[in-house]
Amino acid sequence: MAKYKIALMPGDGIGNDVMDAAKIVLEKIGLDAEYIPADIGWEFWRQEGEPLPQRTLDTLKGCDCALFAAITSKPKEEAEKELVPELQGKGLVYRSPIVRLRQTFDLYVNLRPCKAFKGNPLNYRDDVDMVVFRENTQGLYAGVEFHPLPAPVRTVLEEHSAGMAAFERVSSEDIALSARIFTREGCRRIVRQAFEYAKRFDYPTVTLVEKPNVIRETSGLMVREARKIAAEYPGIELWETNVDAMVMWMVKNPQDYGVMVSSNMFGDIISDLAAQLVGGLGFAASGNIGDDFAVFEPTHGSAPKYAGQYIVNPTAMLLATKLMLDWLGETGPAQALEKAIADVIAGGEVRTYDLGGDSGTLDVARAVAERL
Ligand code: NAI
Ligand code: MG
Repeated sequence: MAKYKIALMPGDGIGNDVMDAAKIVLEKIGLDAEYIPADIGWEFWRQEGEPLPQRTLDTLKGCDCALFAAITSKPKEEAEKELVPELQGKGLVYRSPIVRLRQTFDLYVNLRPCKAFKGNPLNYRDDVDMVVFRENTQGLYAGVEFHPLPAPVRTVLEEHSAGMAAFERVSSEDIALSARIFTREGCRRIVRQAFEYAKRFDYPTVTLVEKPNVIRETSGLMVREARKIAAEYPGIELWETNVDAMVMWMVKNPQDYGVMVSSNMFGDIISDLAAQLVGGLGFAASGNIGDDFAVFEPTHGSAPKYAGQYIVNPTAMLLATKLMLDWLGETGPAQALEKAIADVIAGGEVRTYDLGGDSGTLDVARAVAERL
C-alpha cells in the first residue's frame, strides 16, 4: 500500500490545465502516493445540484490530504438557471464548495506564503518573503448575518450595548448586521500555528494584524491570547500592528515582515496584497489546514476565458504542491520542488504570457520537472 492517499480535485476551467501541470511534477518527484481523482465544481452543480458531491466528501475522508485547483461559481439566480431542466424549481441553493470544505474538515488555517522569486519581472521588490496565517472559519465570514434585523436580536443588542443608541431612529428593515465572532480557542489556534511555523522555518518575528484600539472585544481577544502564546516562544518576537497601518507598511517596507497572523477578513485582504507584491495570481498558493486534514490550492479562480488553452501560469499550483509536501513532512522533496521552480523563474526562458513569454502551462511544468 502506498504511504499516502492524496485526492486530486481539478475542478473547472484552468483548474484542469494547472492540475495537469501538477501531475507532471508529482510524477517526477515519485512520491509514494496513490492519487485519487475527486469531483468538485460547476458541472456537478449543473448535473446533480451539488458542486461538492457526498462521494467526494467520502473520498476525502479516506485521504491524507487533497490538491484542489479551481472552480467556477456564480451568483444565486444565475446558478439556478444553469441547472439541468430536471433540477430547476426544486429550491436547490448553490453553496460554495470551498467554504464547505473548510467547515466540514475544520480547516482553520489559511496559509498564504508570498515569496519573491529572483528574476520574476512581476516582483514589487525582490526581497519580499511574507507568510500570512489567516483564520479560516470564524470572524466576519462565519455567516452570522441579518437583514432586516430580527426584533429579538435588536432587543438584546439594545439591552446590552450602549453603541446601539446611535441607531435608535432607524427601522429594523433598514439595518443589516454581520456578526464578527471570535472564540478564544479560535484565536489561540491560529496564533499558535503562526508561531510554530516561525519556529520551524526560522522567522524572527510574528506580526499580529488586527485593530484592537477600535474593535476592542474581538481584536482585543486575539491580541490578549497572542501575547500569552508569544510568551511560550522566547526566540520569536510578537509585533502588534493595526490593519490599516499594516497595508501601508506592506507597500512601504514589505521586506521587514515575515510571518503575519490575522482574522478571517483582515487576513483575506492582506494576503491578496501580499500576493500582488510577488507577482499576483499566477504565484499565489495557499493551504487550508486543520489538525488532521488539509487542502492545498492556487488562489486564482477558473479563468474561463483561458480554459483548456494551457497557457496560464502553473506556478501557483506547483507552489501549492510544494506546501502539500511540506505539510506531509516530505521536506526534502518540498525544498527540491521550490528550488526547481525558482530556477525556472530565474532562468527566464520558459515563461507564460503573464510574464511576457509565450510558453505553455505544461512547458513550465516540464521545465520544473527536468530540474528535479
Ligand atoms: P480568476 O482568478 O479566475 O481570473 C482572473 C484573471 O486573472 C484571469 O482572467 C487571468 O487574466 C488571470 N489569471 C488567473 N489565474 C492565472 C494564472 N494561473 N496565470 C495567469 N493568469 C491568471 O478570477 P475571476 O475571473 O474573478 O473568476 C473566474 C471564476 O473563478 C469565477 O467563477 C469565480 O467565482 C471563480 N473563482 C474561484 C476561486 C477558487 O476556485 N478558489 C477563486 C477565485 C475565483
Ligand atoms: Mg481572497
